Amino acid sequence: MGTISLRKAGKQYGAVEIIKDLDLEIADGEFVVIVGPSGCGKSTLLRMIAGLEQTTSGQILIDGRDVTLASPVERKLAMVFQSYALYPHMTVRQNMGFGLKLAKLSTGTIKAKVDAAADTLKLTPLLDRYPKELSGGQRQRVAIGRAIVREPVGFLFDEPLSNLDAALRVDMRLEIAKLHRTLGATMIYVTHDQVEAMTLADRIVVLKDGRVMQQGTPHELYEKPANLFVAQFIGSPKMNVLPCKRNGDGLLDLSGEGIMELSLTGNAAPLQIGARPEHLSLVAPESGHCRGTVEANEYLGGTTSVFVRNPKLGLINVSAPADSAFRIGETVGIQIDSSRSSLFDHSGAAIARTSVF
Ligand SMILES: Nc1ncnc2c1ncn2[C@@H]1O[C@H](COP(=O)(O)OP(=O)(O)OP(=O)(O)O)[C@@H](O)[C@H]1O
Ligand SMILES: [Mg+2]
Repeated sequence: MGTISLRKAGKQYGAVEIIKDLDLEIADGEFVVIVGPSGCGKSTLLRMIAGLEQTTSGQILIDGRDVTLASPVERKLAMVFQSYALYPHMTVRQNMGFGLKLAKLSTGTIKAKVDAAADTLKLTPLLDRYPKELSGGQRQRVAIGRAIVREPVGFLFDEPLSNLDAALRVDMRLEIAKLHRTLGATMIYVTHDQVEAMTLADRIVVLKDGRVMQQGTPHELYEKPANLFVAQFIGSPKMNVLPCKRNGDGLLDLSGEGIMELSLTGNAAPLQIGARPEHLSLVAPESGHCRGTVEANEYLGGTTSVFVRNPKLGLINVSAPADSAFRIGETVGIQIDSSRSSLFDHSGAAIARTSVF
C-alpha cells in the first residue's frame, strides 16, 4: 500500500508561508507529477512528505496513518534527488546496499535485494564499479537502485534527470515509466520538464506560491486549463493569450482586429482568448480571424514557429509546417481553431464552454 494524503498541510519559515493549506490525495500506485515556477515550494513539499522538513500546520497521512510528526525512517518513503550523492569510495553494490547495512540486515539478504534491484535497473554488469567509472545516467540509476532496495511504500523524485543530457533524459524517462509499471509503487515526481510531466504523470499538480492552481490528467490540463496561469504554464511552446471582448451580437471581438463566431452563452464576458500555437494556422491576409506581420521564423526541424506581430493583439506564435517560408515583414492572416481555444474572464479564470469538443 502507498496512499499519501495531505490535509491542509502548511510550511512556514519564520513569518514566511511557503506551503499554504495544501490538500492532496494520492492513490496507491499513482504517478503524480508536481510542476510550478522556481521557488513555488515543490522541493519543500516533497521534503515535508519525506519528513526531512517539519510540517508547521495540517497533517500528512501515509496509508491512513498520521505521520506528521514521524521520522523519515518511519515513513518508509525513498527520495531521489537531482544530485545522486553516491559515496565515491564505495562500489555500486556497496552504495546500493549501504542503507540496508545500516539497518543491520544480513549479508545474504542485502546481496539478494541488491541483485534483484540491479537486475531491474540493468546495473548487474556494473556492480563492482565505482561512481567515477559510470555515466551520469548510470549514476542516477544507482541512486534509484539505492531507493528500490529499501522497498519503500512510495518514491519521491526531485528533478532526478535534470543533470543529464537530452538523449540520456529520454532513456531514463522511459526507464522510470517502466519502473513504475514494474513496481506499481506510488511515485511523486518534481520536474521542470514539460515532456516528463506530460508523459509520466497519471496526474499533474500545478503549484504557484505554495498553492495548487489545478490538478488533473495531462490531457485535462492541456485541453481545459482552469485558469490563465495553468494555460500558459502547461504546453510548450506557450499558449498565446489575446485580448478580446464580447460584442453586441454575442460574438467575440478580437480588440477590433477581427471577429470570431464563437457562441457565448449566458452572460459570459471573456477578456482574453487562449490559443495554442498548434491550433493556429497561417492563411491569406484577407481571410483568417486576424492578421499581422511576420517578425521572426524559428525552424525547429519538425515545425517552424512563425512569430506574427499585431499592433493590438501582440506577438502571436503560430506553429507552421517545417518547410514554410515567410518573409520578415510579410503580412499574413491567422486562422484560430475556435473549438480548441480557451476563454478567460477578468480574474483569469477559464469560462466553461459548452460548444468545445
Ligand atoms: N531553509 C529555508 N529557509 C527559508 N526559506 C527557505 C528555506 N528553504 C527554502 N526556502 C524558500 O522556500 C521557497 C520554496 O523553495 P523550494 O526549494 O521548495 O522551491 P522549488 O519550487 O523547489 O524551486 P526550484 O524549482 O527552483 O527547485 C523559496 O522561496 C525558498 O527561498
Ligand atoms: Mg526544487
